[in-house]
Amino acid sequence: MKILVVGGGGREHAIVHKVKESKHTSQVYCLPGNAGIAKDAICEPIPATDTGALLDYARKHKIDFAVIGPEVPLCNGIVDEFEANGLPSFGPTKAAAEIEGSKSFAKYLMHKYNIPTAEYRLFTDANKARQFIKSTEQSVVIKADGLAAGKGVIVCDHVEHAFEAIELILEKGAFGSAGRRILIEERLQGEEVSVLALCDGENLSYLLPSQDHKAILDGDKGPNTGGMGAYAPAPQLSSDLLKQVDKEIMKPAIRGMAIEGRPYRGVLYAGLMLTQKGPKVLEFNCRFGDPETQAVLPLADSDLVEAMMSARDGRLALFEWKNKNKSAVCVVVASSGYPGSYEKGKKIIGLNNPLDPDVLIFHAGTRLQNGDIVTSGGRVLAVTALDDSLPAAIDKAYQVVKKITFDGAYYRKDIAAKALTYL
Ligand code: AMP
Ligand code: GLY
Repeated sequence: MKILVVGGGGREHAIVHKVKESKHTSQVYCLPGNAGIAKDAICEPIPATDTGALLDYARKHKIDFAVIGPEVPLCNGIVDEFEANGLPSFGPTKAAAEIEGSKSFAKYLMHKYNIPTAEYRLFTDANKARQFIKSTEQSVVIKADGLAAGKGVIVCDHVEHAFEAIELILEKGAFGSAGRRILIEERLQGEEVSVLALCDGENLSYLLPSQDHKAILDGDKGPNTGGMGAYAPAPQLSSDLLKQVDKEIMKPAIRGMAIEGRPYRGVLYAGLMLTQKGPKVLEFNCRFGDPETQAVLPLADSDLVEAMMSARDGRLALFEWKNKNKSAVCVVVASSGYPGSYEKGKKIIGLNNPLDPDVLIFHAGTRLQNGDIVTSGGRVLAVTALDDSLPAAIDKAYQVVKKITFDGAYYRKDIAAKALTYL
């Protein structure tokens, strides 16, 4: 089969890498892709949001199956459009992708189906939101309702901070229409883990639990980013806790979506906080996580194309997702200045293919310039290393990361360190 992967980040590189291994795959295409993906797939600079151009390309190249990486095309209804035009696709429909596209819809779902999450209130009026902040004793988190490229969540340390967030989102319109409505949530405490499962509308097949590192600085300090690294499996989520997550969170979500007339097919990603009162949902995402996917997919011992076709066709009950008995650590290398402003076009050195098959370099913000691979984004690339133990995987990943350089290269030095206390 000719497989099309839509997107061009590290997550899509990890998907392409796994799709290429499948016995079903004859050729992989990735639109728009990037300089690293172009070594594994045919790439063209068609934006992931240009559904019409993607569909034309798919027709012309006789694509048999499409996989959608990012949330924006999913929330815009790319799967509905592809399927209506006879292109079998992996990912939720527009109605099902609302689980990520609208945080108020996700909250409605969680309350209706008793899925544990933070208490919340919805506001469109800034004065009412400020009044609520004055009246509550609690520490809060303020969130834009719609998609805001991972930047629409502000964890507030004090009242003034909350007032600033309200002003920024509701009055200054920092996130446009995505911030016409805000959620003010109870602030939860605990460790965060990411649980991803393939879904076919009824059944779930779990990938290994993982942990992202959202903050830019070591020790989880500084502003949040798209994710600076990840590892799997996350030992914080014991098999008992995973059973609880399955029973109290994932199954009710899938059942609820079906009852709501939005059967969920694709990857359901639950961002969880492990609180003293048990796991609670921070957010649902309608796709593979980035950078979690770069740690989780290399650990898979199953055929990803087979898995995604089973999910799309509603026969996941017959499919078993298997994993290697190893740990994976993924360290993201970013441009200096990220998540603020940063320079692009820096030549990257040290990208030679590692000889160890358990070391993978996934490109995110890279492009070709006069035969050189140069930086073209905030998160530039990620190194994933697999090994028999987590400490060994950490060492291996950092040994490779140290050899990859460009002007202003920055990475966190403590990816997966938190997990060591649980081993
Ligand atoms: P989200 O995009 O909703 O997952 O939020 C981004 C990040 O904000 C999460 O990974 C958490 O670190 C933090 N966060 C979100 N909601 C809460 C909450 N209710 N309590 C504490 N932290 C939160
Ligand atoms: N790792 C966070 C996300 O994919 O949204």
